[in-house]
Amino acid sequence: MKRLTLDNIDLSLEAPLEEPARQYYFIAKARSFMGELSKKLGHTPTCAVVTFGCQMNARDSEKLVGTLEQIGYQVIEEEGKADLVIYNTCTVRDNANQRVYGRLGALNNQKKKNPHMRIALCGCMMQEEAVIEKIKKSYRFVDIIFGTHNIYKLAELLVTSFTREGMVVDIWKDTDKIVEDLPVERKYTFKSGINIMFGCNNFCSYCIVPYVRGKERSRSPRDIIREIEALVADGVVEVMLLGQNVNSYGTNLEEEITFAELLQRIEEIPGLKRIRFMTPHPKDLSDELIQVMKNSTKICRHLHLPVQSGSTRILERMKREYTKEDYLKLALKIRKEIPDIALTTDIIVGFPGETHEDVEDTIDVVKQVGFDNAFTFIYSKRTGTPAAAMEQVPEDQVKKEFDRLLKVVQEVARERCGQLVGQVEEVLFEEINGQDSSMLTGRLSNNTTVHVKADESLIGKICPVKLTEARGFYYLGELVKT
Ligand code: SAH
Ligand code: SF4
Ligand code: F3S
Repeated sequence: MKRLTLDNIDLSLEAPLEEPARQYYFIAKARSFMGELSKKLGHTPTCAVVTFGCQMNARDSEKLVGTLEQIGYQVIEEEGKADLVIYNTCTVRDNANQRVYGRLGALNNQKKKNPHMRIALCGCMMQEEAVIEKIKKSYRFVDIIFGTHNIYKLAELLVTSFTREGMVVDIWKDTDKIVEDLPVERKYTFKSGINIMFGCNNFCSYCIVPYVRGKERSRSPRDIIREIEALVADGVVEVMLLGQNVNSYGTNLEEEITFAELLQRIEEIPGLKRIRFMTPHPKDLSDELIQVMKNSTKICRHLHLPVQSGSTRILERMKREYTKEDYLKLALKIRKEIPDIALTTDIIVGFPGETHEDVEDTIDVVKQVGFDNAFTFIYSKRTGTPAAAMEQVPEDQVKKEFDRLLKVVQEVARERCGQLVGQVEEVLFEEINGQDSSMLTGRLSNNTTVHVKADESLIGKICPVKLTEARGFYYLGELVKT
């Protein structure tokens, strides 16, 4: 990203109150500390931002990196060598929390060797009171803690940390505010996530997200389109529209607009090639959306439609607001209208009260829909959610059911993946193949990965590829000369 012109900000004045001007002031102020810090360290200060969560969490990390670059930090991958480490945490399942605590121990040792090092924690886990108490008590070496609602305040909090002793803690319970136009540094040059809304109002009984991400609020279509236009001008060809329940996009806006209408407006942006989105909730996926997808040339042939369970009894206890039959009807309607679409899903196993028969229902849905892929999770009890108070399923039973389901999911996915062998499909090349550097890895419109012998210069480009072989969940292919 281009360096902001921060030089005409007068740091002898008070910080402005309005955003984003206030944060630009603090970016400039934080930058003024870098010279002295470099001298103490003997090198340009380095920082590492670690993402623990979902794509929204990853997008937040890009905003943190954008701010840090403007301040003058050199961004590195390796947290073991960084002078500032930020953990952008997730708390959707307990194992995400455990990973954070585990890695914090190692960071403490690193900090003992580097007295100028700073450690900051932010993200969803920090919105839980019990977590903050635990860190204040047992992880005193952490310098800055902030949450999901004030993530844009990084520069301001860093300045506070530079100017006074002790832990800086700033957590907000909720917010109505959306701060636009902050610096952001993308991980990929050619694709980007875009927040279209924040928060969630659904309160599925197992889920902590509404508690840690706050109430639902949509960005204005104008801001979204302006951001995408700027991204396209900067080389982006694929966008992923992000929200916890994109189908309810627009409900809190003055302007009347549905998610399907937003998609149509985005489709008109010249130069943009591919549009993806996640996550739609099955309970309010409209016919309008199906038709818009069907008639679109840019919206990818992929729908991630979390089912969570195939048992109506469990779905009711989960507060998902659809039945097994509703879901099946919807999935089959989508398959009928858009035959080349890939359907993927999320499934939770071991929700309180789940029996062998309930899992049979889930397996039945997996088979009937024929999911192209499914993320299967073991239920994790989250403090404060209604399901945490329900009677839990014994661990060994959950493990058995989980393995049984996973086997079916993999069989079904493997069968689906083979279907395109022999066809020529467009592939967006994303990166050099991890195992064979003469190959590139890319993605089909339907989100399946493809490995192709091709030159690095094609990264970020969309090229026709003949799919020659299916290997489980991915394809091998050959470039088609055009
Ligand atoms: N908003 C999205 C999902 C966000 S969380 C939606 O409604 O689909 C991503 C996935 O994590 C969920 O789809 C669910 O399958 C899983 N998940 C959420 N809470 C969980 C919990 N307590 N235990 C296990 N998995 C959970
Ligand atoms: Fe969680 Fe349900 Fe909201 Fe998704 S829709 S984030 S599962 S509460
Ligand atoms: Fe995402 Fe995890 Fe938060 S899944 S919204 S980072 S709890």
